[in-house]
Amino acid sequence: PQQLPLQGKKVIITAGGTRERLDPVRFIGNDSSGKMGYALAEAARDLGAEVILISAKTNLSAPTGIMLISVETAAQMSQAVQAQFKTAAIVIMAAAVSDYRPKQVAKEKIKKTAVTLTLELEKTPDILATLGQNKQQQYLIGFAAETQNIAEYAQGKLTAKKANMIVANDVSNRNAGFNVSTNKVTIFRPNQGPLDLPLADKHVIAREILAQAVEDLKLN
Ligand code: C5P
Repeated sequence: PQQLPLQGKKVIITAGGTRERLDPVRFIGNDSSGKMGYALAEAARDLGAEVILISAKTNLSAPTGIMLISVETAAQMSQAVQAQFKTAAIVIMAAAVSDYRPKQVAKEKIKKTAVTLTLELEKTPDILATLGQNKQQQYLIGFAAETQNIAEYAQGKLTAKKANMIVANDVSNRNAGFNVSTNKVTIFRPNQGPLDLPLADKHVIAREILAQAVEDLKLN
């Protein structure tokens, strides 16, 4: 029988939305469902890969035949990815990583005594950009969720994060992006024109993204 294209290859996929703690019972989060990342994990597994799924909290159950590592914050996600990075063939950052986190995390529950409350936020580490700085053989895929100027921002992210592919979606389209089962994306790569994929189930989109990566890596 023919060997599957990702047989013997390690693929790291991040999924879900990170949560950044304010205090023991509160956090800053986002609308990510984790569906795109979990669909990618299943698609990579079906192509024969050894899949490490590093997931922030979602309502999804763990796909069979993959290794699931659960994390909460951007910092924990960063640490988990770094620990697996060296031997990876492909890294897909499908997670919605919080861009900011509270500068102070209160040890006790914040009481509602003040009339107004100001939160001071600091930037989280950009996981994908850090991987881009340190990559060797790894093929890096990032996502871009935008509401405007999609192509321009996606191209900017390719360069800034040294990614091999940016998958851009228009999150203002109600059938694409956060919390729905379908997605409509455009694939951007350094030396190729943009590739528009039709609106489809996230599992179909996931297979197409991996097929493009397999082709770029000449694994087919
Ligand atoms: O810069 P922006 O957040 O729009 O980039 C999105 C891409 O970068 C996604 O692939 C996301 O997983 C990744 N990212 C990251 N670390 C962050 C923020 C985003 O790896 N702190």
